[in-house]
Amino acid sequence: MKDKYVIAIDGPAASGKSTTAKQLAKMLHYVYIDTGAMYRACGLQTLKQNISLDDLDSLAEMLQDINIRIEYAAAGNRIFLDGIDVSERIREADITRLASEIAIIGIVRDKMVDLQRKMGENGGVIMDGRDIGTVVFPEADFKFFMVADVKTRSLRRWQEAKDKGENLDLAAVEAELCWRDKNDSTRSHSPLRQAKDAISIDTSAMSIAEQVAYIYQVIQEGKKNV
Ligand code: CDP
Repeated sequence: MKDKYVIAIDGPAASGKSTTAKQLAKMLHYVYIDTGAMYRACGLQTLKQNISLDDLDSLAEMLQDINIRIEYAAAGNRIFLDGIDVSERIREADITRLASEIAIIGIVRDKMVDLQRKMGENGGVIMDGRDIGTVVFPEADFKFFMVADVKTRSLRRWQEAKDKGENLDLAAVEAELCWRDKNDSTRSHSPLRQAKDAISIDTSAMSIAEQVAYIYQVIQEGKKNV
């Protein structure tokens, strides 16, 4: 009997994916893989190497050598690019935008998907992103698609920034989220969309504890049927 599942959680920004995935990973003793962080690291690399996103030859070269490493830790994963810890840098606004821009490009996606499949091949992983249930692991054991209304998501991102001491303009946060939602869901390569067999969860009025408990229960009940 299989007991090391692949669990896919997809959805738009600030829908609750990463917070939920992190907690579930702890409860299940699974590894949490934040695929968005990998696109962010790619974006940062283009900035460091001064590569324009329409220069496909340089991008291909960059992707050949890219060294992204995730260090799994209970206190939170750390992400390393060429051996340097970029966990904080990749959360900054310029990289958030760049990640969504670079995620449109086919050769970038092919490389990231390849790395992600290797990371998850033995199961025991919770992977969050935009295309995990549709493209990376279409055969995932459990698939969830988290959504929340844009006002709630904007407020969450605004609050997150505030907790870090940043005072952002709420309307600007909302505009950026809307831009990213559109960019992520209208691209031709692996657009953000719900897999047919994913369970959809609207977290607008849910607490983190409720989200986690709900998914945990689905997995426990699913387990009984394996
Ligand atoms: O944390 P947040 O939801 O703001 O974003 P993220 O998950 O870190 O992802 C950053 C960007 O990477 C997204 O806006 C997507 O464009 C892209 N991405 C993707 O295309 N496919 C994934 N599997 C994960 C992220």
